[in-house]
Amino acid sequence: MPYDFSTFDRNCAKEQETPISGSVTGSIPSWLRGSLILNGPGKMKFGDQEYLHVFDGAAVLQKVNFTETGPTYSSKFLRSSAFQVNSENDQIVVSELGTKGTSVNNKSALQKLGEKFSFDKLFSDNAQVNVVRYGGGGYYAITESPFIHKICPKTLETIRKVDLHKEIGVNSQCPHPIQLNDGSSINVFHNVGATGPKYEIYKFPAQDSPDSFPKASKIASVDARWKLNPCLMHSFGMTEHYFVLPEQPLTLDVKQMVTNSVKEKPFIDGMEWIKDKLVKFHVVCRDTGKELKFRLKSEAFFYLHIINCYEEDKFIVVDLCAFKKPDMLYSFFIKNIRENGQNLWKELDRGTIKRIVLPLSVNDKVAPEENLITLGSKATAYRQKDGVVLLTPEEISPICYENPTMNPNFYGRKYSYFFGASSDMDDSCGKVAKVDVRSGEVKQWSKDGVYACVLSFVARPGAPADSGR
Ligand SMILES: [Fe+2]
Repeated sequence: MPYDFSTFDRNCAKEQETPISGSVTGSIPSWLRGSLILNGPGKMKFGDQEYLHVFDGAAVLQKVNFTETGPTYSSKFLRSSAFQVNSENDQIVVSELGTKGTSVNNKSALQKLGEKFSFDKLFSDNAQVNVVRYGGGGYYAITESPFIHKICPKTLETIRKVDLHKEIGVNSQCPHPIQLNDGSSINVFHNVGATGPKYEIYKFPAQDSPDSFPKASKIASVDARWKLNPCLMHSFGMTEHYFVLPEQPLTLDVKQMVTNSVKEKPFIDGMEWIKDKLVKFHVVCRDTGKELKFRLKSEAFFYLHIINCYEEDKFIVVDLCAFKKPDMLYSFFIKNIRENGQNLWKELDRGTIKRIVLPLSVNDKVAPEENLITLGSKATAYRQKDGVVLLTPEEISPICYENPTMNPNFYGRKYSYFFGASSDMDDSCGKVAKVDVRSGEVKQWSKDGVYACVLSFVARPGAPADSGR
């Protein structure tokens, strides 16, 4: 059955506040208890206006609760400021990635200009990407902008908005912070300092306070390589001793974004793919906050998700979901789906799973023809005459499996399996895959009419360690 792209063109018009039971098809493991809370763009209309891009919809929180008597389902719209302003005006007022908001006030042009330059006019607070823990502060709906919303995991109600621009002075963030075993969490943010844009790493403590956000401490600050174009960093990697920040050629053009905010253009018009540029890897020591000095670069690719990173011998292994270019961001305009839905797969790169191996030390005298990788991987690293270490990835899979998940006990450690949704959209409907990263073997599951979105791994009690079960 071919992929039905109209699944991306749907509107969630109503909430399901009261949990309901449904009918179960297949079987749910008898030991599974707890709640799965999903976040994503869902409400695509306010009044007669529709969002133009799939990623723009107002956030809908959905919860499946696995109980003794069977699962229940409930959902609720996130009460972001954007949602409330749009609802009050019954139209789309706040701009999103691909949709320009419609101005509703009658203020003077000068007043409008001043408002447009204020920080929270640059970004919407529609946090529709993920639900995460932020240290001991609770559960938050999150997106790339610095506005997050504390939610109640029981009722899905929005409790309060936290402005990380005010809290710690950052401009945007990875929507995939990493939770540590002690309950603290770590994330990477964009900021601007005297020398230009920076990637800043903060730690949020485990201590819980119901009324305030955890007080964060800065661990490291890394200069972006382009002064007006920090890169999009949707996720980052962490090993036992290091952070890994891949700096891809998809960037946020700061000048263009400010201009766009005045002209009320959508966010996507401020993104720039810098052609013919490589991916630069920043490796930062977790203890000292210092970046390794030598320059590590690989062929260009677009990525959103790092699957896992770990140290082995004198190397860091980085596995990630990679695409040639960020074309998918432009394919998912609603107009394109409606007009080219049957052939959309032709536009979409299937991606690959890449393994890149980073050496942790590089001798200045090493010969250019000597491969620095002695790990038994097909990935290579050669030191060029200008000192740059050029990395060539190993291809673990010729097809990408997106929104990767894995046994969290192996995060940052050598591992065997991850799970993801197939990016092969030309002949399949939403397959789920278990990928063995050692051999590249892929086991897939699919059912007509069922489309995988975000996967979550829960280890079966008593399953052998690192069995992916
Ligand atoms: Fe993501």
